[in-house]
Amino acid sequence: MTPNQPHPWWADAAVYQIYVRSFADANGDGLGDLSGIIAKLDYVVSLGVDAIWLNPCYPSPQFDHGYDVSDYLEIEPDYGDLATFDRLVTAANERGLRVVMDIVPNHCSSEHPWFRAALDAGPGSAERERFYFRDGRGPNGDEPPNNWRSMFGGIAWTRTATHDGAPGQWYLHSFAPQQPDWNWSHPDVVDHFDRVLRFWLDRGVDGFRVDAPTPVGKAPGLPDAPPTPGMTDAEAVGYNPYNTFRPEGHEVWRHWRAVIDGYERDHPGRELVMVAETYAPKRPELAAEYIRPGEFRQAFCFELMSTPWAAPRLRRTIAEIVETRVDVASNTAWAMNNHDVARAATRLGRADAADDTDWVRPPIAAAHGEIDLALGTRRARAALLLMLALPGAVYLYQGEELGLPEVLDLAPEARQDPSFARTNGAELGRDGCRVPVPWTDDAATSYGFSAVASPTAPWMPQPAGWGRYAASTQVDADASTLTLFQRAIAARRDAFAQGDAPIDWLDVDDHDLVAFRRGDTVVVTNTGASARPLPAVLGRHRRVLICSAPEHSIERGAIAAQIDVPANATIWLTPG
Ligand code: GLC
Repeated sequence: MTPNQPHPWWADAAVYQIYVRSFADANGDGLGDLSGIIAKLDYVVSLGVDAIWLNPCYPSPQFDHGYDVSDYLEIEPDYGDLATFDRLVTAANERGLRVVMDIVPNHCSSEHPWFRAALDAGPGSAERERFYFRDGRGPNGDEPPNNWRSMFGGIAWTRTATHDGAPGQWYLHSFAPQQPDWNWSHPDVVDHFDRVLRFWLDRGVDGFRVDAPTPVGKAPGLPDAPPTPGMTDAEAVGYNPYNTFRPEGHEVWRHWRAVIDGYERDHPGRELVMVAETYAPKRPELAAEYIRPGEFRQAFCFELMSTPWAAPRLRRTIAEIVETRVDVASNTAWAMNNHDVARAATRLGRADAADDTDWVRPPIAAAHGEIDLALGTRRARAALLLMLALPGAVYLYQGEELGLPEVLDLAPEARQDPSFARTNGAELGRDGCRVPVPWTDDAATSYGFSAVASPTAPWMPQPAGWGRYAASTQVDADASTLTLFQRAIAARRDAFAQGDAPIDWLDVDDHDLVAFRRGDTVVVTNTGASARPLPAVLGRHRRVLICSAPEHSIERGAIAAQIDVPANATIWLTPG
């Protein structure tokens, strides 16, 4: 993009992520559903966001809550049907909201008809070619075909049984055994997904969040992964050079991009996003490969989530991303929260939040001592305001606007994330950020999650007192996180209307401050525990546009001649 060139809606969009199962339950069965989302669209509009991204809502046995798809061309019956989906798209569009679909190309469900057919058809069959079936190694093929590990713990292979119950071939799953990897060198797979993309585009969606693109495409021959000294097990899996970031995968994305470009050409007026879930926290240059010309239009940037709460580190992370991406203002999707990581309010309340630790996923409590939730919430508000000032798009996860904490004390029997069971509880898993949203303070209706009088208990238990975070108790409250969120999204639209204004770093002589100018707005984050005077280098930028510190909300618009940057806060200033 060059200045003054109109940019597509997604370039600097604020996208609100809806984890369908946990958002709003219209029929009282304890599971969120599409009708529930329709009923809450006015709330979504009140947040000021541009689009919603729906986590997978296809039919699925729900081993990985929708990331195990058994039919890519239908809606999960527990969530609704295609007619309800169409109503949702229409109702969203009528309110000026776009809809982004989640698509899962690396694997399907082990209940997908093509995988069932592959199991039935046996070794050597054409049906098995669509997946990775291999004979085992060692005597009687008892050992897996290679040493690859699964992203959810354990090995990446599961052995099948023949019709008479004898041990058979193995199949590859980069995630859970219920999620067999597709073989993308097979033309049937390519053609099927072309159809899937067009099917949802024809129903009016505005693009796709592409799930787990990095393991798509494998090295020929599936060789053993080499040793990776210095990496944790989880990192070694994520960077297995024969199963991730493969050139074969990039061919798929170039093909998808051609499909998307072609669709836009055939449908003037449609602007489609294609955003990659490129999880590569330690290798930003690998994530950047997905947004080379002719590939994805946008790729996530998860680095902020794992950056210590320390001004120099935040600056370094942001600067690194800006340097590695050619057009950061359109192809970067920032996020502080999503359905896979512990919520920011809890993460940032850790005693060691300023240190380098691998702490994005639970169990953060056990490993990192006490959590100071009030402090974490304050920092999460500051981090939100910092992120909203960056060039590019922002993806915001349901409940982030309420300052929801991670629920850490779920009973083991309540936990459903496959990574919990597959690591024998060493990883608590992701259930704690997926607890159903509190809408009201009424415990009898699961805090307003269910719209009927006596609902079935929610699929994941809500902690007692969950209503204290309810939307209904935060709305119109000056110091609430919901109010900050709404004001911040609106302020972002005004302050950064020219979405591609670059970051101009300001060298402030203070270890706890990170400061930059974008366009006419100066942004300062104080990661320290005490307030700091506004540095002189900010010059005439003395009018407070917005400040994340709850006690500061009354100062909005004030001329800040004497204003400090409060502790653990972000402030936006304009000339005045
Ligand atoms: C992505 C999703 C995650 C899912 C995994 C496997 O990382 O965000 O929720 O478990 O892919 O599909």
